[in-house]
Amino acid sequence: SIAEMAKKAAASQAVADHLRPEHRWVGIGSGSTVVYVVQEIAKWDKTITDKMSFVSTGDQSRLLIEESGLRLGALSQMPKNTNLDVSFDGADEVDPDLNLIKGGGACLLQEKVVAVASQKFICVADYRKTSEGLCTKWTQGIPVEVLPCAATRVLDELKRLGSIDPSIRQGGSQKAGPVVTDNSMWIIDAPFAPLQPHSKRSSASPSSTGAWSAETLAERLIAIPGVMETGLFTGMVTKDSTKGSQKPVAVYL
Ligand code: A5P
Repeated sequence: SIAEMAKKAAASQAVADHLRPEHRWVGIGSGSTVVYVVQEIAKWDKTITDKMSFVSTGDQSRLLIEESGLRLGALSQMPKNTNLDVSFDGADEVDPDLNLIKGGGACLLQEKVVAVASQKFICVADYRKTSEGLCTKWTQGIPVEVLPCAATRVLDELKRLGSIDPSIRQGGSQKAGPVVTDNSMWIIDAPFAPLQPHSKRSSASPSSTGAWSAETLAERLIAIPGVMETGLFTGMVTKDSTKGSQKPVAVYL
């Protein structure tokens, strides 16, 4: 299909542009686009990729790494005070400032940990994912990973913040009851009115339009007790101060 071709093309460009033979620690995100990322990496000369360790963001990407014959590594094995050289991950929606919604695949918690631990975070997204403001295309809600015993309280808080009908994600025909994440948590999908993109924000109070900015909403969501992580990824900049503040690179095709 066109969508699969677009994912594959974006993945191959991302790997060609951002993976370097000297890289040693590489993060691998989750979802269907990173399958193509790993396929591209597996095409590389073994003498190069054997020197690399690949850090997963959940069970899906762990299996993907192992089945591709790449070496699985863990954040806990990394030398002290170092970051992953680069990470590749997909997204569900991307705004003009490269704020992301992630978590459609329920892997957002480990994805965020790996993204923040990465010197360079490459978002591999095809043309279907871009929008002028988050929550315009991805309307099923911002994924929020929650402690199961806190879920009903978190639902109430989300409604107070303006979420319209937030709900606990259900396993559907595959599983009776809530989806259980790789971290034994639940996912709440919290629909919000379209978020205000930074580039469109006036100097007036953002609240004058009634719309949250991605940054402010992210801060409010993570502050709710019982919320382990949110699928709002804002300003994922490099930790390497010697290189200055570097915007994440998104690859669209
Ligand atoms: C997984 O939880 C997500 O964050 C994925 O990265 C996101 O859903 C993109 O997935 P696709 O590549 O399958 O669109």
